[in-house]
Amino acid sequence: MRQVPVTNVRDFARFKQDRRKISIVTAYDSWSAHLVERSNVDAILIGDSAAMVMHGHRTTVPAAVAMMALHTAAVARAAGSKFLIADMPFLSYRNGVSSAVRAVGTLLRSGAHAVKLEGVDGHEDVIRHIVGSGVPVMGHVGLTPQSVNEFGGFRVQGRDVEDAEKIARQAQTLEQLGCFSLVLECIPAQLAARITRELAIPTIGIGAGPCTDGQVLVLQDLWGVAGDHSPRFVRRYIDGEAMLTDALDRYDADVKGGQFPSASESYS
Ligand code: KIV
Repeated sequence: MRQVPVTNVRDFARFKQDRRKISIVTAYDSWSAHLVERSNVDAILIGDSAAMVMHGHRTTVPAAVAMMALHTAAVARAAGSKFLIADMPFLSYRNGVSSAVRAVGTLLRSGAHAVKLEGVDGHEDVIRHIVGSGVPVMGHVGLTPQSVNEFGGFRVQGRDVEDAEKIARQAQTLEQLGCFSLVLECIPAQLAARITRELAIPTIGIGAGPCTDGQVLVLQDLWGVAGDHSPRFVRRYIDGEAMLTDALDRYDADVKGGQFPSASESYS
């Protein structure tokens, strides 16, 4: 049975109070957003992982506001009933409040209902200003991929006490700044559980264990169409790569064997 989809930011707080888990997937284009729209998944993140998944980059660093705006608009055209969160790309919120607000305006005019940005230290004023401008902000701590060069790779964060305390403190600060929700990426499950207990806003985990208030996955990962590399936290719900290449090979065989198109697939 189809559930009532998340339609506005207030549902996130209610779901946490009701202990009702929140499901989010990424989408970057209209055709996949159309499929998410037909599902029970609560919300869509137009993630800057688009730079990797859609554009073939090795990190999210090359994502730019214009790129995110194009993907957001494509998703918004197809997923009218879903709550849409667009990622603020690398450095777009580190260049002063007015430049960050311009970027937020571009993403909201493209169809996003909220923005997500990574980290907090050094851009507290920007977050405060965006929230104060009436734009819901989702925080993101732990493995923040835009800092991959600082981390020396995509590594689990918060394994030692000092780092764990830092992440827990950042989570508290983001709640105090008015974020409506918080992504916890690639941190130990116990740390994610602690942060989830300590915060009133819902936590959304990716590689953060089962105790967060919701989960987010990259759509191509869960569809099994993201290539061979699969992090431990990904669950592949279908082997999409095998299904799709099989369809291509059957098409190829039909064309080469003269079985496509048939009379009913031709005009008279
Ligand atoms: O860009 C993205 O897809 C993300 C998720 C992995 C949380 O930020």
